Amino acid sequence: MTMRTGMAPSQNAGLVEVTSLGILDELLARTPLRPGVLATPPAGSGLKPVPGDRGLPFVGLGLQTVRYGPAFQIQLMRRHGPVSWWQAFGRRIVAVCGPEAVSAVLSNRDRAFGTGWPAVIGPWFDGGLLATDPPRHLADRRLMQAAYSEDALGGYLRRMAADIGTALDRWPTDRPVKAVPAIRALSGEITTGAFLNEPYDPVGREVMDAVEACIRAETALVRQPVPGTAWRRADRARRWLTGHLGAALPAARARTGDDFLSVLCGLTGTDGSGWDDAQLVEHMIFTLIASHDTTTAATIATLYFLGKHPQWQRRARAESFACGDVPADLAYLDRLRTLDLVVKESIRLVSPSPIAMRVTVKDTDILGHFVPAGQLVCVCTGVNQLLPELWPEPQRFDPERFDEDRAGDRVHRLAWAPFGAGQHKCIGMRFGMLKVKATLDALLRRFTWSFPPSYEARWRFTSLPAPADGLPVVLHRAHARTAGSA
Ligand code: HEM
Repeated sequence: MTMRTGMAPSQNAGLVEVTSLGILDELLARTPLRPGVLATPPAGSGLKPVPGDRGLPFVGLGLQTVRYGPAFQIQLMRRHGPVSWWQAFGRRIVAVCGPEAVSAVLSNRDRAFGTGWPAVIGPWFDGGLLATDPPRHLADRRLMQAAYSEDALGGYLRRMAADIGTALDRWPTDRPVKAVPAIRALSGEITTGAFLNEPYDPVGREVMDAVEACIRAETALVRQPVPGTAWRRADRARRWLTGHLGAALPAARARTGDDFLSVLCGLTGTDGSGWDDAQLVEHMIFTLIASHDTTTAATIATLYFLGKHPQWQRRARAESFACGDVPADLAYLDRLRTLDLVVKESIRLVSPSPIAMRVTVKDTDILGHFVPAGQLVCVCTGVNQLLPELWPEPQRFDPERFDEDRAGDRVHRLAWAPFGAGQHKCIGMRFGMLKVKATLDALLRRFTWSFPPSYEARWRFTSLPAPADGLPVVLHRAHARTAGSA
């Protein structure tokens, strides 16, 4: 494997290339690749085999996958082309990178691809939209749509904005805090109210701990409920959540609230029927899981880049204060254009959910490469966001790429796809952007922060992409009259 060695990486280089920072990287660089083909194409098909790398027995290149994230996938693409495979922890996974290959899978014209998530994340998301295929997926998604109407979003946001303010008013200033656990806890704190109409008390905390236990089990190596493992914790957590949410349903059905669960209970199709209790609970669990980690990752990435680029922090804060002391509702958040650019650029560089997992339901081909039925396929949307073929100087933080004039994201439909594409495209995209913007606006109005030029986050790619050191940051009080200083 080719490595840059012996020096600290330049700005964001670690996102686009495999960098070496120490002995572990040196060792990983010596892993034998053991190239080979995935499967022999049927005789006379005219198809090519998928090239790829086995790596070490069983482990394969699994360690590289979690340590280098998109940089590893870019390297694989450069070695083998847009359709390749690699082995990770006993599994062969086809990697699909670049706009044409990603489009071929996500548009799914030939219906050759089903959701691959249950095979990767286990049973914790069962019954959720992302774990189902048509026809059930289509019917459920149609019914779900009304829970994301502008009216409904306005209600969730009202509750969130109030809770964000209360929580941030307690945050310490002038001493280091770790941004990663702090933002994660903040997301938990504002989720129980808006999604479940529950306070963030010890039970509310247990809800969010259970949600996180399910998320953490995604990448577990031991996939049986063995005592002491992440799998066992997720198993218990899912059972506890199922009981807790089931018990909350009668009250949620009875109220006409502005929380997600009561909205979900009120959804009915054209024939007047809605979901039964078990389905409501499954959709609610998946919604909690899908929203919490992704928005946390997006907020952390944006907070980091705002701290690295004080001129953008000043500009975003000035825009917030220029709007006056107004409630953080939909109309207000939509006016925050600078913040919009900054969030878009931050989640381009660090995509909160940079892959989509699919599985082939029949023998098929991707760009002329033979892929047999039952094959797990990793669609690397996050890689497209970092390719120099699509983005000039891809590692540079440059929010103006998204300006109407430059419209860098329009170079290809799949150049920027942090919310996915195709039939499983994020149904909570607008909600997610609103939650992230509401949190950052509240941070900008209260605090200033910065990271020294010498500090370069080392991103970790085990489930939530986040700086491995927890991102220590010192917050200072911000005032409207000093909006111009960061
Ligand atoms: C910045 C925040 C978010 C990001 C980056 C994000 C990203 C994604 C991505 C990439 C997918 C598609 C995965 C695939 O095709 O395999 C997805 C699906 C989904 N997301 Fe989000 N998401 C975010 C926020 C949210 C929020 C706030 C909610 C709900 C409140 C949500 C609910 C969902 C659901 C239900 C699906 C499955 C849709 C389907 O299968 O039809 N997401 N999200």
